Amino acid sequence: MTSMQIFHPLQTLSLTQLQRRQSAKWQRYGKDILPLWVAEMDVPLAQPIIDAVQNAMEMGDTGYGNGDAYGEAFAEFALARWNWTVDPVDTFAVIDVLTGITEVIAQISGEDVPVVITPPVYGPFEKYVTRMGRKLLHAVLTPEGRLNPETLETAFAAIKKARTGGIVLISNPHNPTGVSHTRAELEMLSALATTYGIRIISDEIHAPLQMPGHEFTPILTVTGAESAIVVTSASKSFNLAGLKAALVVGGPPSRADLNALREGHVHGASHLGVISHAAAYHSGGPWIDAVIADLNTNRHLLGDLVAKHLPGAHYFLPESTYLAWVDCRPLQLAGDPAQIFEEQGKVAFSPGSFFGDEGAGHVRINFATSPTILTEALRRAGSVLLAR
Ligand SMILES: Cc1ncc(COP(=O)(O)O)c(C=O)c1O
Repeated sequence: MTSMQIFHPLQTLSLTQLQRRQSAKWQRYGKDILPLWVAEMDVPLAQPIIDAVQNAMEMGDTGYGNGDAYGEAFAEFALARWNWTVDPVDTFAVIDVLTGITEVIAQISGEDVPVVITPPVYGPFEKYVTRMGRKLLHAVLTPEGRLNPETLETAFAAIKKARTGGIVLISNPHNPTGVSHTRAELEMLSALATTYGIRIISDEIHAPLQMPGHEFTPILTVTGAESAIVVTSASKSFNLAGLKAALVVGGPPSRADLNALREGHVHGASHLGVISHAAAYHSGGPWIDAVIADLNTNRHLLGDLVAKHLPGAHYFLPESTYLAWVDCRPLQLAGDPAQIFEEQGKVAFSPGSFFGDEGAGHVRINFATSPTILTEALRRAGSVLLAR
């Protein structure tokens, strides 16, 4: 590639190449269905990641992980991207974000402590928390898909009344509405949490993928939220979900909790996972900037395609992530929109109900694909309406 050529990661791989992948996104459905569902991206990997993993394979360096490489690489990235100073001492590598969240919940609270989530939100939050035997409270988002002070306060007040103490688990930025919580919104959350004695856990897995004009606010930089605990990973933004690793990040008030987590572990994240994620954070900056530029083009293209092929549906223009939330209720389809688009249109989106009852009638579209595939996917969805 010459210096004059611009790298377009989302335009590099053909459908035939993508269909050879063995991952869930490309194998769950038959070849006749275009898959725009689970959060994997249709991109080639960043070269520094390939080099780091290849090097490890050539050395046979495939044993157990060791040391703080993940935390150190994340600290470097957080400072460069968000001017956020993280002390690697306050980090701890875990297998993946969901496991990390459950481990943090179990560490910081007793079994009678309930967890508040903010639906529609990433479905496994509810599943994992419920499986832990925890009571779950819903602080439903506003109609705009943003944190809602009223529902949060209602949930927090109920917890205070029960005198159990509580936890609020947020997706920052928010999957599936694509909202980048503003500093003011997070200050509101932090103030309410302080008032009602609630501890914050912030899932920041989508943080690096900010669209132009929007910013990621790390919860640990928000006034009053110093005792929050973050669980994050390079897996979404660098397409590394198959190379398992994630990171718990705390501040000084959480040191005892992180030490206890560390002591309870022998091995956590996969060694190759840490090697690949650390390479991503160290050297993946230019690659991710190119991905963001392509995602920015795609989010506007998708808005136009929804208007053209699904007129009346409401498109939430994503502020971050590569996941777009579309309210299909105005289309008055006779059933679950995702199921109808899949069966009749041969295109797979994530059903809104995966994100809680509040998501019924919506679909989530993964637009981390080529403009060609995106255009064909929406044409297929639109064909369902034309056939009515
Ligand atoms: C908000 C959020 N958290 C967690 C995950 C899953 O992360 P992991 O595979 O590290 O458990 C996802 C995957 O899409 C996600 O969107």
